[in-house]
Amino acid sequence: MVNTVATAPGDSATIAAEAPTDNQKLLDFVTEIAQLTTPDRIHWVDGSEQEYTQLTDELVEAGTLTRLTSPDFPNSFAAFSDPADVARVESRTFICSEQERDAGFTNNWVDPSEMRQTLSGVFDGAMRGRTMYVIPFVMGHLEAEDPKFGVEITDSAYVVASMRIMARIGADVLRKIEELDAFFVPAVHSVGAPLEPGQEDVPWPCNEEKYIVHFPETREIWSYGSGYGGNALLGKKCYALRIASAMARDEGWLAEHMVILKLTSPQGRSYHLSAAFPSACGKTNLALIDPTLEGWKAETLGDDITWIRPGKDGEFRAINPEAGYFGVAPGTGWHTNANAMRAIAKGNSIFTNCALTDDGGVWWEGMTEEPPAHLTDWKGNSWTPDSAEPAAHPNARFCTPIDQTDMLADEYFAPDGVKLDAILFGGRRKTTVPLVTQARDWNHGIFYGATLSSETTAAAEGAVGTLRRDPMAMLPFIGYDAGDYLKHWVEVSSEADPEKLPAIFLVNWFRRGRDGTIAWPGFAENTRVLKWIIERLEGTAEAVETPIGFTPTPDALDVEGLEITQEELEDAITVRPEEWRTELEDIDAWFSRFGESLPQSIQDELEELRSRVA
Ligand code: GTP
Ligand code: MN
Ligand code: MN
Repeated sequence: MVNTVATAPGDSATIAAEAPTDNQKLLDFVTEIAQLTTPDRIHWVDGSEQEYTQLTDELVEAGTLTRLTSPDFPNSFAAFSDPADVARVESRTFICSEQERDAGFTNNWVDPSEMRQTLSGVFDGAMRGRTMYVIPFVMGHLEAEDPKFGVEITDSAYVVASMRIMARIGADVLRKIEELDAFFVPAVHSVGAPLEPGQEDVPWPCNEEKYIVHFPETREIWSYGSGYGGNALLGKKCYALRIASAMARDEGWLAEHMVILKLTSPQGRSYHLSAAFPSACGKTNLALIDPTLEGWKAETLGDDITWIRPGKDGEFRAINPEAGYFGVAPGTGWHTNANAMRAIAKGNSIFTNCALTDDGGVWWEGMTEEPPAHLTDWKGNSWTPDSAEPAAHPNARFCTPIDQTDMLADEYFAPDGVKLDAILFGGRRKTTVPLVTQARDWNHGIFYGATLSSETTAAAEGAVGTLRRDPMAMLPFIGYDAGDYLKHWVEVSSEADPEKLPAIFLVNWFRRGRDGTIAWPGFAENTRVLKWIIERLEGTAEAVETPIGFTPTPDALDVEGLEITQEELEDAITVRPEEWRTELEDIDAWFSRFGESLPQSIQDELEELRSRVA
C-alpha cells in the first residue's frame, strides 16, 4: 500500500527514511511508539480517496466491515463490534493530572507516573502483527488563527476510516504541522490484540482490559483495549472535549458538549444558539431540526462539540471542531430527523451496530415506523419483528460527513465561527424541570449548567434511567476539576462585553404528564420553543418570573396547529415549587461533593433559589 513501510520498523533511521515528513517531533513520537508497540508495518495516513478505498477493501476482507449493496446506502459500510465493546467506558477513563485535586471528584485519577508504568506494560508489543497507522489531524479549521493539531497513532483501520469522516486529516494537515512546526496532541490508540505469527484475526479485535487515559498537563491521550467510537476516535471526546477543556481553561476559552444551530426568523433576522444536552438526549436531533413553523429557517453548524472563544468585539464566537456526525442511530428516522436521513442517504457512511436488511442496507429502531419483516440483527442473528431484542444496539451509530447536510450553514466553513446569541442547557427529566426557562443573567445560567441533570442512557456503560447530575452535559468530559471548570465559566465572561453575553435557557423535552407519557411532542415541534427563545432575545415574548427563572406565559408559546391538550401543555411548562423543594435536597448533596472548589457565586445562586421556592 502507498505510504506503508513494509519492513518491520525498529530503528529511528528506517522510520525517518520511509516517513513522508522530516518533522523531528513527529518522527520522535512515531519512533517511540513503534519501538514500544512493535507493529509489523507503519502507514502514514494521507487521507486520500484512494487510501480510503484501499482501507475499506481490506476491512471488508477482514470481516470488520460489510459493504452495503443497497442503492439507498451508496459507498457505505456496516461494522459490528464485539458485544462487550459498544459504548464509552467511563469507569475506565482516567484524568491523570500531576495532582489528584486537579482531576476533581468527577474523574478517575491515577498518579501519572504509576499510570505511565501501567501503560508501558499494556502497550508493550500491543501492535504486534498489525499495521500502525499515523493520522495527522486538526480539530477545527486548518486556517484557524491557532489551529489545534493532533496525531493519532492507531492499529485499527476502522479507526482510520472513521477519523477520515469525523475530522480533517491527512497530508494537508501534515504540511501545516511542518510549516508551523506546530504543537500536536500525541494520541496513541491500540485495540490491545496483538497477533502471533499465523494467528487469525477476529472481525472486531479488542481487549477486556480497557484504559482511556488523559494527561492534561502534557496534553497526551492513551487509549487501550476498545475499538468503539468515543474510546478510539481520539479527536472527538478525548481531544476536543477532555484535553481541549484543559487547554481552554489555560487559554481563556470553552470546549463544550454542544450543538450549534443557526435560526432565521420570518423577518430574516439570524441568530446562533448552542445547546448542551447529555449523550443521547437530543443534540443531533436539535442540530438537524426542520422547523414546523411557517417562515422559520434552521441551518446547522454542528451536533456534538462546540468550541467557544471570546471574539474581538466582546462577543462569544462558536465553531464546530469536527467534520462529521457520530450520531445515535435508533430514533433517527424520516419522520423524526429527515435532515439526518438525507445526509445519510448520500452515502460515504459507516454504521456501527445497526441491523442489516435482506437487500444489503441497514436498519435501526425508529428509522421507519414499521420494521422490515426480516433482518440480521447487530449480533448477526436472524431477526423478525417478533424477536425479543432490538435489532440494532441502542447505542448504534451512524458516522457521516457533515458536508453532506443540505441544511449546513455556510458559516460552518468560517474559521472564526459565529457569534453566539443563546446557550441552552437540557436533560432528560421525567419531572421538575419545565419545558423552557430563561435564566435571569449569566451567573444564574451557569447555575442551570452546574445543576444540569438527566436520566442515564445507553450512550455509556451502566444502568439506564437513573438520575445523575451532569454539569453542562460535560460530566464524562471535563478534563480537570469540576469546580475549577465552573469557576472558569464564571471568569470567562469577564473577557466578553456584558451586553453581548449569550442569554441562557434551561430546557426539557422529556417531562411526563399526569398520564405518564411525555407531555411535549418534541423533535421538530421544538421549533416553538426556539421561537420563544428568539423572541425573548428580541424582547418581544411574554414571560412570567418564577422561582427558577422566566417561563413563557400560556399565550407566549406558539402552539397553533400543534396536537397537544391544555393539560399536557400545562404539565410541560408549569413550575411546581414542591418539586423544586425536593430538587434542592439533591442539589445540596451534589454541591457538597465539590468541596472547596465550588465557586461562591454558584453557591449563592443555590441560596437564592432556596429562598425563592421556600
Ligand atoms: P450524543 O451524540 O451521544 O452526544 O447524543 P445526542 O444528544 O446527539 O442525542 P440524539 O439527538 O441522538 O438523541 C437521542 C435520543 O433522544 C433518541 O432516542 C431520540 O428519539 C430522543 N430525542 C431527541 N429529541 C427528542 C425530543 O425532542 N423529544 C423526545 N421525546 N425525544 C427526543
Ligand atoms: Mn456526544
Ligand atoms: Mn449526537
